[in-house]
Amino acid sequence: MMIISLVNQKGGVGKTTIAINLGIGLARRNFKVGFLDTDPQGTASQWQSIEGNVAFEVRRHPSPVSYEDIKDANRNYGLLVIDTPPAIGEITLSVLAYSDLAIIPLAPSVLDIWSSRTTIGMIEEAKKANSILEGKLLVSRKVPRTRLGRDGREAIAALEMDVFETEISQRIAYVESMIAGVSVFQYAPKSEAAKEIEDLCEEILQGMQMKSQTG
Ligand SMILES: Nc1ncnc2c1ncn2[C@@H]1O[C@H](COP(=O)(O)OP(=O)(O)O)[C@@H](O)[C@H]1O
Ligand SMILES: [Mg+2]
Repeated sequence: MMIISLVNQKGGVGKTTIAINLGIGLARRNFKVGFLDTDPQGTASQWQSIEGNVAFEVRRHPSPVSYEDIKDANRNYGLLVIDTPPAIGEITLSVLAYSDLAIIPLAPSVLDIWSSRTTIGMIEEAKKANSILEGKLLVSRKVPRTRLGRDGREAIAALEMDVFETEISQRIAYVESMIAGVSVFQYAPKSEAAKEIEDLCEEILQGMQMKSQTG
């Protein structure tokens, strides 16, 4: 059982968009993926309720998760993706207590980089009780071919946390696929967006493999 959560106290950084696409990307690779929507705003649940959507089950759970909740999910799935609210609070802290990997999406802008420090601090705190937790930053909503996009990585390095090589750009396919109630794989299989999510899946799985080899 692997638990991957998307966290950042800031809203609008792409947590929900990435969580859904990542979940579907991993399901396409034959993982039995479960999805927990712990955001009281229920964005992922709304996405799932779009007519005809049968991608996977999104469970609404707008409150802190317990060991029982995780064990329950564990019975049915090999991999659990958890979307969290845009706030520092009990819900996110409870999710971090059970996560193997916490992905922190952040836009490559100074303001986002500064505000991510609080989220990183929360992960450091959670690590004290959950020693398997790994936090990793993910460049999100990067505007392709701009100086800001290029310089962003350098600024992010100052946060002194692992960063995914894969970067998620600002692309219309992400927005339109959500509206259509599907992932970028169904909406635009040959798009750059689909390739980015595919790369992200690959990078996560490689990281998992390395971990299991080194124990
Ligand atoms: N990579 C992207 N490219 C374009 N629009 C995006 C991208 N990621 C997110 N968005 C849009 O930005 C808004 C916030 O994204 P969302 O995934 O809900 O962020 P969060 O869950 O962190 O609040 C939504 O309208 C979404 O469609
Ligand atoms: Mg969200």
